[in-house]
Amino acid sequence: MAQYTFEPFKIKAVETIPLTTHAARERFIRDAGYNIFLLAGETVTIDFLTDSGTSAMSDHQWAGMMEGDECYAGSRNFFHLQAVVRDIFGFERFVPTHQGRGAEQVLFGVVAHPGKVIPNNTHFDTTRANIEARGNTALDLVIPEGLEPTNRHPFKGNMNIAALRQLIEQTGVENVPLVMMTITNNAVGGQPVSMANIRETKALLAPYGIPLFIDACRYAENCYLIQQREEGYRDKSVKAIARELFAYADGFTMSAKKDGLVNIGGLLATRDPALFEQIQNRLILTEGFPTYGGLARRDLEAMARGLEEALDENYLTYRVGQVRYLAERLLEAGVPIVEPPGGHAVFLDAKRFLPHLPQSQFPAQALVVALYLAGGIRAVEIGGVMFAQKDAATGETHYPALELVRLAIPRRVYTQSHLDYVAEVIARVYAERQQVRGLRLVYEQPRLRHFTARFEMV
Ligand SMILES: Cc1ncc(COP(=O)(O)O)c(C=O)c1O
Repeated sequence: MAQYTFEPFKIKAVETIPLTTHAARERFIRDAGYNIFLLAGETVTIDFLTDSGTSAMSDHQWAGMMEGDECYAGSRNFFHLQAVVRDIFGFERFVPTHQGRGAEQVLFGVVAHPGKVIPNNTHFDTTRANIEARGNTALDLVIPEGLEPTNRHPFKGNMNIAALRQLIEQTGVENVPLVMMTITNNAVGGQPVSMANIRETKALLAPYGIPLFIDACRYAENCYLIQQREEGYRDKSVKAIARELFAYADGFTMSAKKDGLVNIGGLLATRDPALFEQIQNRLILTEGFPTYGGLARRDLEAMARGLEEALDENYLTYRVGQVRYLAERLLEAGVPIVEPPGGHAVFLDAKRFLPHLPQSQFPAQALVVALYLAGGIRAVEIGGVMFAQKDAATGETHYPALELVRLAIPRRVYTQSHLDYVAEVIARVYAERQQVRGLRLVYEQPRLRHFTARFEMV
């Protein structure tokens, strides 16, 4: 029997959950072109679309919002955030941004001149799009185990270091302006990266003088999983692990909407004074002055407080425990998922869930639609809709190795009975999986098409 970890908080404010009928959901999803991004939130019962910007803030954070000093430059909330960034990450030079992609567009706007190659263990969709939009190549170099849903390697998010070395030698150091590592590795199932892998990546890059940037959205969950799974870290605090990890980094981007426990906000940091100057100039052009970066000062205060709360180990035990609980309940029902579960989400393996659907009929998207119809659960496709690429020369479509459905659990929002409901609905859909029909794409945009695509049922 799956064990549930006690919530280390009491609930002070509540929000009503919408309950809908099957007939109503059929109408809502048809009108949305079978794309859950186009559904109104009020038609969703359990919202597992994303863990990004969906956290419940604490009373301490809400109190901090009232202490926002809304002056244009040099607010006290910026200086508080600066002290927290220095304390947790050990970086002196940073700017706030409105969210993760704000940091990405500023960074790549400065370093990614057309024709460069930027490797990552696995790029997330916005990172890839920001790199490609500037005429660069975004390369994924995750270890092979990361693409095997049933392989129980403890750090499936790791970088393939041999492949990275080969790439640098073939491409030329001058064509690789930086290397990124996404922790946890969201696109392959929220899988963590080991400290050893980060250390080795840094050791490879140092002689070439190539900077290592961390995509730090879920760094606290990654550091907690290092504490739990990597030899030599069991007795270290998550904060001490974070300090060691960021000591290997030359910079980082962060969507604070994840492990910053805020509804909006991001960070961009570097150790390089010349790069920092360029970053500040570009930030002023696109996001705002360097002491607010596109955010209200009250949001900076909530971020400073949220960053500290996300390192509370009772919170992290509950948080990662919630993900493991849902995964175990699904495994008990025989549902195919990516194993072992990572830090923020459970990923259903749509290829094994719906083997009767070819990739051209978007099995993961079809499963997302089935979950919504069955129980008003909103999950998200991470498969062919998000990542398939058309070969410009042949017109052929290349599908990604994985067809996943991500059930991302918002932080501090849902309780055990919500997870039990989700597990029961998914088990029911799995028992009746032969009835799930594929989808045909009828409308798409050239970039980030999953946000606006429309489908019809096959
Ligand atoms: C790994 C990763 N990087 C970057 C981003 C982009 O962050 P944002 O949505 O705040 O722009 C996300 C968002 O989900 C992410 O998961």
